[in-house]
Amino acid sequence: MKILVTGGLGFIGSHTVVELQNAGFEVLIIDNLENSTIEVLDGITNITKVRPHFQKLDLRVKEDVKSYFKTHNDIAGIIHFAANKAVGESVNEPLKYYENNINSLVYILQELCKLNHQNFIFSSSCTVYGQADTLPITENAPVKPAESPYGNTKQIGEEIIRDTCRINDKLSSIALRYFNPIGAHPTTEIGELPIGVPQNLVPFITQTAIGMREQLSVFGGNYATPDGTCIRDYIHVVDLAKAHVIALQRLLEQKNKSNFEVFNLGTGKGSSVLDAITSFEKVSGKKLNYQIVDRREGDVVSAYAETTSANTVLGWKTELTLDDAMDSAWKWEQKIRAK
Ligand code: WQD
Repeated sequence: MKILVTGGLGFIGSHTVVELQNAGFEVLIIDNLENSTIEVLDGITNITKVRPHFQKLDLRVKEDVKSYFKTHNDIAGIIHFAANKAVGESVNEPLKYYENNINSLVYILQELCKLNHQNFIFSSSCTVYGQADTLPITENAPVKPAESPYGNTKQIGEEIIRDTCRINDKLSSIALRYFNPIGAHPTTEIGELPIGVPQNLVPFITQTAIGMREQLSVFGGNYATPDGTCIRDYIHVVDLAKAHVIALQRLLEQKNKSNFEVFNLGTGKGSSVLDAITSFEKVSGKKLNYQIVDRREGDVVSAYAETTSANTVLGWKTELTLDDAMDSAWKWEQKIRAK
């Protein structure tokens, strides 16, 4: 069965392509290489020994999307990752985010709805919850006004899919709301490509440890949490990738209970920034140079997943730990800096 993965050379996309190939699917990748490099295709191939079909394509160009599907109309399902995802950047460049994240989704759905098989997995985010009132966060937690244009594009994206599923019962879709994806593939063939100054915690930790960054700034030490730093649900990217294959198989086997379902993907365990640093220091044997500074605008205090639905309905749960993720992230950092 052919599966199309948009943004398949990205961080989560590339790890999902590996797990799809491991599960026996034939994978087609489209990516515009704006936030990735073609070498990721070699990394995937080195792991699975099967080179996915790749076409460079910008999903903002409607005519190019239409012509792609004229050739590739025997796709059994689509996993849609292609989007910009930097929260801070989205605040400064909202129209870039609305044009890319929304238009691309609309053009893909317009073509998907013409195919015989209309199975769609959407890359969403726990950002849609904002600061949830109740922890851990269930799928029924209210979606709050987005804290950033990036988060808003995920909320709008889910609504676009929900509205389309409502009028097209041939279309079945699952939105996967990720918590904080971290780590890299244990082979160190693929991982989180560091383009520019990292916004996210773990790449900043590993770049500090390897000497690329002087010091990690911990954004806030006086939150109402046990150690004063923010709490997140850090999930290993390989566990996250496997969830996409399970969600896709749910649709292919028509086990879904409705044609639009939502699942939170997390470990169910909250870890503070200092917990993350402690984990890194333990697995790397390195002392991390960090300093607690002022809070970062827009950060929520605490977010971690209630995983009952993912565990019992979707039939997926995490197997890897924070230490496993930190270990793989550190090995990846050392690998890419050794070149
Ligand atoms: C985690 C914690 C920071 C950097 C965002 C998006 C989410 C997803 C993941 C795209 C926070 C602290 C961070 C640093 C720090 N993105 N931190 N020093 O903000 O939870 O989630 O990225 O899909 O949708 O919202 O992730 O890694 O930026 O921050 O202290 O240099 O680490 O304050 O508490 P975040 P993050």
